[in-house]
Amino acid sequence: MNITLESRTPAAIETQALVTYVFDEEPVSGRAGQLGPASEVLRRLAQNSELTGKALEMTYLHAPQGLKAERLLVVGAGKKAKFDSAQLRKLAQTALRYLKSRGVKRLVFLAHADGATPEAAQAITEGLILGDFEGDKYKTGDKKNSAPFESVALAGWDANGGAGKAVEKGRIIAEAQNFARSLANEPANLLTPKILGERAAAMARENGLECDVLDEKRIAELKMGALLSVSLGGPEPPRMIVITYSPPNAAPGGPVLGLVGKAVTFDTGGISIKPAADMDKMKFDMSGGAAMIATMHALSKLKPAIKVIAVVPSTENMPGGRAQKPGDVQTSMSGKTIEVLNTDAEGRLILADGVTYARKLGATHLVDAATLTGAIVVALGAVNAGVFGTDQAFTDRVLASAKAAGEKMWPMPMDDEYREMMKGTISDLQNISGGRYAGAITGAMFIREFAEDTPWVHLDIAGTAWLDDAKPWMAKGGTGTPVRTLVELAMNFDSKK
Ligand code: BES
Ligand code: ZN
Ligand code: ZN
Repeated sequence: MNITLESRTPAAIETQALVTYVFDEEPVSGRAGQLGPASEVLRRLAQNSELTGKALEMTYLHAPQGLKAERLLVVGAGKKAKFDSAQLRKLAQTALRYLKSRGVKRLVFLAHADGATPEAAQAITEGLILGDFEGDKYKTGDKKNSAPFESVALAGWDANGGAGKAVEKGRIIAEAQNFARSLANEPANLLTPKILGERAAAMARENGLECDVLDEKRIAELKMGALLSVSLGGPEPPRMIVITYSPPNAAPGGPVLGLVGKAVTFDTGGISIKPAADMDKMKFDMSGGAAMIATMHALSKLKPAIKVIAVVPSTENMPGGRAQKPGDVQTSMSGKTIEVLNTDAEGRLILADGVTYARKLGATHLVDAATLTGAIVVALGAVNAGVFGTDQAFTDRVLASAKAAGEKMWPMPMDDEYREMMKGTISDLQNISGGRYAGAITGAMFIREFAEDTPWVHLDIAGTAWLDDAKPWMAKGGTGTPVRTLVELAMNFDSKK
């Protein structure tokens, strides 16, 4: 999709659709009120309460009087006090999908009169690119969803005021997020750990990143017994994918951010097998890993001044004659021993070795992302990801990054009492607590044992990694979370150290 800045006055812009937005308190304000005769029509609609400005309300006019544009779309932005770049991103996503479903392929997004900031340009760019994504790679012919948008332009920004840079940044971030979504959407037969490793290596090669994909032999040599144990049940070999971004301007001896992502390409539960209903969704169990790989893509272009290492343990979790059995004891790379009381709690096992390896590679700060527990979905639904951390300052930085990036996350407790619940009977640790309570927290507590004293944050994205149904602003399937948060964290890391 081509994205440019448009400098003509609104009335002179020839396009298939001109898009702008209005607030609840003042429905025909800003640019919407400066469109000559077309604004008169909008005022009439407002007087009749057919245009109110409430969030994501669509007012759609064909052949708007006095404008060269073929259509005018006015999107409700809701209350001004609640409006931020997250709202603006979602508004742009929704506008694009609304137009796309009506066959429109070119639009010009007109800034609100007092909203032509670089931040707004970035949010709108992200929204338009995220909105354009369709999960229809394997549909053919007329079964395809609508074809991608051809071009969009942003009007009302001063070309010398940083808008061009902001558009470029937004494009890099949203394209990375869409990359994570496309990986997540891949079915498990077409995205095995081996193929994920190849995809990561290809991305790294194309973008000047270092990449090391450890095969099953090297995984065994390095004694990554926790990752290996999960891979035993099926014929597909595991991989440990490592991507490194090492900028020349990183401070020597400075911080190294380690991004560890769970990439179970299919989770049947193993011998502790899952029920059949919705098991197909477990192809998304590699979403955390996909997000880490995609984040590295963005960072290779945005070039933060901090070294970042992504570590993505990847395997299938299958039942089989050689599969690990409930009660088996495994030795992790760290040397800590684990009783695997439930083979379906496999994410924490592979993350144990992922976190240990990231520390070995020099990570001074760790963030892991994983579709780890059904329990986090019970606690927070599909709205917020759960945030667990041992270092309050670092946890607060991740939460602030999430807020700035418009990805909803909520802090969860990590009291020592929960730690007791993960002590093993005949080994150091057990991989489930034994009861049903506090399932998301005990999962986090298990991973914590491997982070040891390294500042570490765990993001449980089981509820937010994919959408079961399409939304007006987003196609169903992988969401690509938490790519934006991690990019934000890395980009601001040096200044806040
Ligand atoms: N991949 C699942 C978690 C999951 C469940 C993600 C639903 C998304 C939606 C994970 O490996 C798992 O099976 N966890 C178990 C842990 C339990 C055995 C302690 C769970 O949540 O039931
Ligand atoms: Zn599982
Ligand atoms: Zn899983």
